[in-house]
Amino acid sequence: MKQQIILGIETSCDETAVAIVRNGNEILSNVVASQIESHKRFGGVVPEIASRHHVEQLTIVLEEAMQQADVTFKDIDAIAVTEGPGLVGALLIGVNAAKAIAFAHSIPLVGVHHIAGHIYANRFISEFQFPLLSLVVSGGHTELVLMKEHGSFEVIGETRDDAAGEAYDKVARTLNLPYPGGPHIDRLAHEGQPTLDLPRAWLEPDSYDFSFSGLKSAVINTLHNAKQRGVEIKPEDLAASFQESVVEVLVTKTKKATQEFKVKQVLLAGGVAANKGLRAKLEETFRSETDVNLVIPPLSLCTDNAAMIAAAGSIAFAKGKTSALGLNANPGLPLTSF
Ligand code: KG4
Ligand code: ZN
Repeated sequence: MKQQIILGIETSCDETAVAIVRNGNEILSNVVASQIESHKRFGGVVPEIASRHHVEQLTIVLEEAMQQADVTFKDIDAIAVTEGPGLVGALLIGVNAAKAIAFAHSIPLVGVHHIAGHIYANRFISEFQFPLLSLVVSGGHTELVLMKEHGSFEVIGETRDDAAGEAYDKVARTLNLPYPGGPHIDRLAHEGQPTLDLPRAWLEPDSYDFSFSGLKSAVINTLHNAKQRGVEIKPEDLAASFQESVVEVLVTKTKKATQEFKVKQVLLAGGVAANKGLRAKLEETFRSETDVNLVIPPLSLCTDNAAMIAAAGSIAFAKGKTSALGLNANPGLPLTSF
């Protein structure tokens, strides 16, 4: 069988990323230029700065990815690019670059949903076993996605307010920790004890939705009250208590959904998948479930990268789902099946 080579491009937020992937599950190169240092001093991603960095970095990252994979444009079967969701200015840089390459070299173009990409990062670790459930936890999304076959996505639960990563970043900011705060809270949590009583938002009994804004407010109130009473709260204990609340809700709802939908596999996806507490709790919960196969990708595939976009694009392309050269960036793109 002829091998399939996909070029992936991802610029939806603050990573400029290009990757070359063979047959949908083999990484030939995966280059990521992070902008975190440029955004840190502002305490979050500044959209205008992100776009400018993407313009500066994209051709350099593209060249490096193609060199590392030892391919030329003649070898590329399709170009997969994140078309949304994300920051519109940032997305546009990747989409326009992809369109330019597609037009200049007559290569098919495939627009990819960012979350489909995060889910497909798991395919570098394991072949998918359907039906499967993916817990997607990133800076912008918290979703439980049911897949009955390749390219089919059913969102059975999502956050009603803040995403899990957003809650981590906001809590980190109240503790004066640098951006992005998730890894810092994760580190502190392992040095403290969950001694503080923080809420868990279970919502309606049959709901797979999430809500983290109440928890975030509870953390802020707890700190504020302690300060007024002159009581000292150890940041490590606050981080441990916050993390326990987030992880308990995420894992409990994931477990319940695996039972209801009788899934064979659970995939973890998105930047918060790097969280040590979440990884440990998922492993502990599913280790005894011999009929559920838990897949947790390495950290480099959990945070934004282009290999995951190429992996999702590979399946879409194989199904004949290509995009016209009029493809536009869509910051509010819904996750639909392909
Ligand atoms: O998926 P991602 O790289 O970008 C988006 O698509 O949003 O996720 C970034 C998010 C940030 O909110 C960051 O704080 C969080 O992932 N994150 C973590 C950890 N590492 C990254 N959150 C908790 N614990 C971590 N170890
Ligand atoms: Zn992401």
